[in-house]
Amino acid sequence: MPKVKAVIFDLDGVLISTDHYHYEAWKKVTNNLNIAFDEQVNHRLRGVSRLESLNIILEQEDVQLSESEKQLLAEEKNRYYVQSLQKLNKEIVDQRVIVTLTKLKERGFKLAIGSSSKNAQYILDRLKLTSFFDAISDGNNITQSKPNPEVFLKAAEYIVEDPGNCIVIEDALTGVRAAKSAGMACVAIGHAALTDEADYQIETIDEILDII
Ligand code: BG6
Ligand code: MG
Repeated sequence: MPKVKAVIFDLDGVLISTDHYHYEAWKKVTNNLNIAFDEQVNHRLRGVSRLESLNIILEQEDVQLSESEKQLLAEEKNRYYVQSLQKLNKEIVDQRVIVTLTKLKERGFKLAIGSSSKNAQYILDRLKLTSFFDAISDGNNITQSKPNPEVFLKAAEYIVEDPGNCIVIEDALTGVRAAKSAGMACVAIGHAALTDEADYQIETIDEILDII
């Protein structure tokens, strides 16, 4: 592996367990629509944009809706989701996240976020994590979500680093694929660690400190 100079973190499911809030918000929308939705389908939404997530849910149940109806449902889901985000504060951040980010900064790595979420900045602010990062690449600055590499390539551009010197931490298979197609090394955690598509698999975030 070339020398790693920068670490790009996915957010939901890596730095904080908001992935479950996404699931609960979609569950409310699908219950209102009276269509099926379970944890298995939810895994396919990891790393995928809000609207694309809705398309996956509807496709699964063969439901056809107009673009404006979909837009309204995506907005409804986000309202439920943002309500859950009110529970976030710095006390609920896993100490291993703080230790890992602090040590990586001390060792001189550039740190960035590479998330498909349009709520990334809001979440980082609520968790008081924003100041750890040199740049945030998120759902607001991309046109194609993971597995397209755009979000990670933009992160590398923002921190002025060669993609080959970056390592990505991901919990989504779509995110692992995005990192690999960006030409970056990738560490899988959580759900993504169930496959061997990433270069490394870890159980807890502080294990990164032994890899790089
Ligand atoms: C990703 C999540 O981080 O963000 C996806 O893994 C989610 O599940 C996507 O759909 C978009 O999030 P948001 O906050 O813009 O609706
Ligand atoms: Mg994720």
